[in-house]
Amino acid sequence: MPAKQKFYLTTPIYYTNGLPHIGHTYTTVVADVIRRYKRMRGYEVVMTTGTDEHGVNVERAAKKTGVPESEFVAKMADAWRALWLELGIPADEFVRTTDLQHVRTVQWLFKLCRENGYVYKGHYTGQYCIYDNAFVNDAKPGDNCPDCGRPTETVTEENYFFKLSAFQKPLLDFYKKNPEFIQPESRRNEIVTFVEGGLKDLSITRTTIRWGIPVPGEEPHVFYVWFDALTAYLSAVGGPDYEKRAMWPADLHLVGKDIIRFHTVYWPAFLMAAMLPIPKQVWAHGWFLMDASKMSKSKGNVVLPRPIANMLGMDALRYFLLREVVFGQDGNFSYDALVTRYNSDLANGLGNLASRTAAMIEKNFAGKIPKAGKLEPQDETLARETQTAIGDVLDYFEKLNFARALESLWTVIATADKYLTTEKPWALGDSEADTQRKATVLATTAELLRIVTVLAHPVLPDSTTKIWTLLGQPGSVSAAELDGLRWGQLTTGVPLGKPQTLFPRVEKSEAIERIESMANEERNPTAPPAPAPAVASSATAGAATAAAPAASEKIGIEDFAKVEMRVGQIKTAERIVGADKLLKLTVDIGTEIRQICAGIAQFYEPDSLIGRKVAVVTNLAPRKLRGVESNGMIIAASVGPEGRPVLAGFLEDVEVGARLK
Ligand code: MSP
Repeated sequence: MPAKQKFYLTTPIYYTNGLPHIGHTYTTVVADVIRRYKRMRGYEVVMTTGTDEHGVNVERAAKKTGVPESEFVAKMADAWRALWLELGIPADEFVRTTDLQHVRTVQWLFKLCRENGYVYKGHYTGQYCIYDNAFVNDAKPGDNCPDCGRPTETVTEENYFFKLSAFQKPLLDFYKKNPEFIQPESRRNEIVTFVEGGLKDLSITRTTIRWGIPVPGEEPHVFYVWFDALTAYLSAVGGPDYEKRAMWPADLHLVGKDIIRFHTVYWPAFLMAAMLPIPKQVWAHGWFLMDASKMSKSKGNVVLPRPIANMLGMDALRYFLLREVVFGQDGNFSYDALVTRYNSDLANGLGNLASRTAAMIEKNFAGKIPKAGKLEPQDETLARETQTAIGDVLDYFEKLNFARALESLWTVIATADKYLTTEKPWALGDSEADTQRKATVLATTAELLRIVTVLAHPVLPDSTTKIWTLLGQPGSVSAAELDGLRWGQLTTGVPLGKPQTLFPRVEKSEAIERIESMANEERNPTAPPAPAPAVASSATAGAATAAAPAASEKIGIEDFAKVEMRVGQIKTAERIVGADKLLKLTVDIGTEIRQICAGIAQFYEPDSLIGRKVAVVTNLAPRKLRGVESNGMIIAASVGPEGRPVLAGFLEDVEVGARLK
């Protein structure tokens, strides 16, 4: 078997002075989509992300929290890694700039550049923006940073310099020979103009900073930001031994437009100086803006990914980020647009098509996809259009035009909806001709759905996996080969999988309120994060454990009397979208009907609870759980090692509202 072609792609390595927001999530999601897409095209893919851990900002942040820098960055790196894992987008390589392998690589790269005559010692005085970690060219003392608007500082010190000026011509030649290197086109022109304007040598070490990689034999010099950070891409795949891993040069660096210059001017120049291979492409995407300005922690306008993933699912967030703006351009982020797209494109679009197709097959063909019979012209048209869409979608993916790829796919879904509306398989009878026709229409729709599922997989990995199972197709959708994908490969006659919840419709204002409420909880954690409560309440673990005495300690009756418990009767019970463990209950406590959330969803069917009398703690302060208000707590025993909740009840009939004493 011939060896697979390799594809190495990277996200920027992110600063550790904050936690990921939707902007960082965007780059990482895009990288994950490309990784899945390339794997389905037969490539061996490595995707790298990581954390950029050196510099003044980290020194300051660590000092503020009173911990050593190494401890501070280790915690932050863990948090970044954990979030990517939770969101289903962990990289294949997670590189930290404090990793030993990275330290070795930076020192090695410096040695090569120096041996080749591109490094010298000098003094530098200039205006420096410590927030962006970059000298501000042409700035005078007192000037603000043109990028972030904050004051610059005058810095004079002995530095090692990199002879960037020597690379003006080599870089311009390189851009000319490799027109694909900088994407999109508009960015390429911008960079060419910048380089044509002349390049100044670049200071790459510092003596005033402690928290950095030491320059061997030249202490107290430490490497400064970009020489350190950019090298992470190389250290992630072998560093000095990169040839063994055979992944370098990178095929694609994904970056935000804010850091394109560092990636397309400094980085290739460093590599040229060291005589190392240069990456094939740098792709700069735009920003997600909040109210027309860039999200940043200091502005307090960051959107967090976790509450969205909890409420609507990660697939919904992925779809929105890729569909809403053309890759490369800026776009506005709004919860309203997010939920609108979720309901229209995912719940009513793909989700609905999948569920209704499966339901009709279940009802009419005993749950097995039938074989198509004689084809009518409209069936053939649908097949042809879908076949054409395969080519279009792959073409758009190849150009990283995700918005257009998804648009084309959703046109196919709309065509299927129209086809079903015209063909009305549900209105056909049981005659042989009608059954034949029904079989053809449903097999045709199922085939279209299979193709959409394969093509959408890189963007919607979870839900397409569910649809694949629903359609009873063999193997896994991630193993489907995009290059061989064509109409007519549906496996018929196999039983459908069990029905799947795909994209439950949500009520817009309620969904937004819950996302915002979860985001507030995440931003201002009042209590330590409670483990999923066996029985959730308005106060749950945080407040309850804060005052809880040790098991052996006795409390007085006056302490117990502070807890008001009453007999309640459950009136309604429903599951909560985005909270697998919780049920939302309304409970009659005699004097009023309360809404209470209980962590019992995995053990009790909602319907089985209606009318049941339960013991309720009624004087707990209300609290939001997963964004849903809970006003009280239902009492349950916690049974077995997994803490299965068993609701407390009464052996005799008791009056609703009666006080428990
Ligand atoms: N550490 C440097 C990068 C070094 S790479 C060798 C850095 N880090 S960062 O934490 O500021 O992350 C920057 C990247 O996050 C951007 O380039 C972009 O990919 C992403 N985004 C941050 N905010 C963003 C938006 N509001 N919108 C879209 N992407 C944004 O710079």
